[in-house]
Amino acid sequence: MPSYQAPRGTKDVLPSEAKRFQRLEAIARDVFRAFGFEEIRTPTFESLELFQRSLGETTDVVQKEMYVFEDRGGRSLALRPEGTAGVVRAYVEHHLSQTRPFCKLFYVGPMFRAERPQAGRYREFWQIGAESFGNASPSADAELLLLVQTLYDRLRVPDTQLRINSLGCSDCRPKYLGALLAFIHSHLELLCDDCKRRAERNPLRVLDCKTDAPKLADAPTIDAYWDDACRAHFEKTQDYLRRAGGRFVFAPRLVRGLDYYTRTVFEVTTTALGAQDALAAGGRYDTLVKQIGGPDTPALGFALGAERTLIAMDSAGALPAKNGNHLAYIAALGDAAAPVGFELLQSLRQDRALADRGWLFEGGFFEKKLGAQLTIANRLGATDAVIVGDDEIKRNEVTIKSLASGAQETLAKDRLTAHLMDRYAQGDMDQS
Ligand code: HAM
Repeated sequence: MPSYQAPRGTKDVLPSEAKRFQRLEAIARDVFRAFGFEEIRTPTFESLELFQRSLGETTDVVQKEMYVFEDRGGRSLALRPEGTAGVVRAYVEHHLSQTRPFCKLFYVGPMFRAERPQAGRYREFWQIGAESFGNASPSADAELLLLVQTLYDRLRVPDTQLRINSLGCSDCRPKYLGALLAFIHSHLELLCDDCKRRAERNPLRVLDCKTDAPKLADAPTIDAYWDDACRAHFEKTQDYLRRAGGRFVFAPRLVRGLDYYTRTVFEVTTTALGAQDALAAGGRYDTLVKQIGGPDTPALGFALGAERTLIAMDSAGALPAKNGNHLAYIAALGDAAAPVGFELLQSLRQDRALADRGWLFEGGFFEKKLGAQLTIANRLGATDAVIVGDDEIKRNEVTIKSLASGAQETLAKDRLTAHLMDRYAQGDMDQS
């Protein structure tokens, strides 16, 4: 076993997986652009207090899962366990409510939670998320849900389900919590130790417990307790969704692990993942901006787990595997040819037109025999080899060899770019 390994719950993203990651990110960026979201980047650590206030003191994330540390100046900080708190902090700190009251932001970045690692659950994981500020209309809820649906359609993750619920507001939710708590108390002996403890602090979370939820099938659900405004908001959200082709199910027991939510909450699940079935989750948080010291601002958002989403894409082989590139390998024959080959490689790499056409160039084993260089070219998946030897240099020519057919031709060096441009007519290459 090597002396050093990645810390428990973390993982290296090796080049083949990094490519898939880039693909996921590129599709997400494309969908965000179409829905009018712009990128924001916030620090990977923030003050501990920000997370305590935003996510809720009694949540598992704050109580058990944060990486907390003190810096040399004695400040209490925490690695961010999620992205919303930092984005809201930035929105307030930079007075975006004045300059950009209706801003829609997205982010891509690592998050940290000291959870027990298992398949699809890491201590450092990546989220791709979005937050939308300043729109209280149910059409904003529907818009976000459609964004999430569009994203998962584009990623071609099979068997996804978008589950939605409303957690009501500070007027109607306490009435529900009272009824739920009474029910939980009358069934307390059935519950696991965790939930017995949770019942007082955070009764909603009991509905989320994998072992206890099935035992509470008769527990009251929140839809019977919504006040008129919350009910109307949720119904309008669904109306908007239906009109625009939204596919969702109403899940009256759906709750979330973070405290900031009001009204609409949702998650995307898939059967492809096993126990860790939530690919993405989010909802409305109309009181959080004010709670963090900003003006009263309605807001909502979501985040997807990138690793989980990639696993779900994997298991059905659904990753759209294409990069549309063609690789030409530059080989040189002889001492005099090596620097010429090197120079040619660098100049081809800097040719914008060739790059736009999807051409990539590799080389650099000029001291090896030609056969060995061509073996490397094949191993790298090159379609063509461009060979420069002493004869070619004298005549200012290059030889281009198709590695698939073995056919080769010699042409004037200054014809090479045009030849490569013609090699794959425009449209033959999939640039998506
Ligand atoms: P969350 O439900 O805690 O929500 O996390 C969102 C997603 O992050 C989960 O559905 C899951 O895919 C992924 N995730 C969470 N923990 C882990 C882990 N330990 N390992 C791998 N993936 C994980 C939030 O974080 C909210 N900030 C979402 C939001 C944004 N709500 C409003 N705006």
